[in-house]
Amino acid sequence: MDPQPQHPPDIESLVIRAVRLGDAEEIAAIACLPGYRWGTLSLPHRTSEDIRKRLESQGPGDVSLVASLDGRIVANGGLTRFPGRRAHVGLLGMGVHDDYQGRGIGSRLLREILSVADDWLGLKRIELTVYTDNAPAIALYKRHGFEIEGTHRGFAFRQGAFVDAHAMARLNG
Ligand SMILES: CC(C)(COP(=O)(O)OP(=O)(O)OC[C@H]1O[C@@H](n2cnc3c(N)ncnc32)[C@H](O)[C@@H]1OP(=O)(O)O)[C@@H](O)C(=O)NCCC(=O)NCCS
Repeated sequence: MDPQPQHPPDIESLVIRAVRLGDAEEIAAIACLPGYRWGTLSLPHRTSEDIRKRLESQGPGDVSLVASLDGRIVANGGLTRFPGRRAHVGLLGMGVHDDYQGRGIGSRLLREILSVADDWLGLKRIELTVYTDNAPAIALYKRHGFEIEGTHRGFAFRQGAFVDAHAMARLNG
């Protein structure tokens, strides 16, 4: 029997590339989706101008990628670099369009971000925060070598209630 494909065939054509200012409108639409917002710090009613400003304010060492399927953006993510004595650290953030979650897209995007961090930036430590009830995200990060280091209590306000978040990190080497 043929081995199982690593990803379902419909994401074989996934393209991962650097974000462009012209992507702001599509990214804003994804950031407004309820599932994406639930897992991130995104506020309702994000506009393409908000996203454009954020993209314009990125530092030179930051990594910002999108994943697209048939020309449609289905995920975004990247790394923010720290200055000075934390220059070895990258802060990771990512999210997948609500209609495309659970198909391996997050895994593909995360692999690409980590390969840039490991093979091209030489980062020692990648860190992130994830809500303690975000089981798919925690599973994804653990599978890619992240460990829970601690828990922030009342980390963010979400849909009328405070929610805790784990600090997770992956150390390279
Ligand atoms: C979290 C997120 C990035 C994952 O991306 P994705 O494309 O849906 O994830 P993938 O399909 O690549 O893989 C998800 C993994 O979680 C697992 N999973 C799915 N639902 C799960 C659940 N309820 N409990 C435990 N594991 C679960 C899947 O089985 C898969 O693991 P496997 O490959 O070992 O089977 C995506 O769901 C998302 O963007 N959510 C909203 C925004 C968000 O939460 N961003 C992260 C902020 S820290």
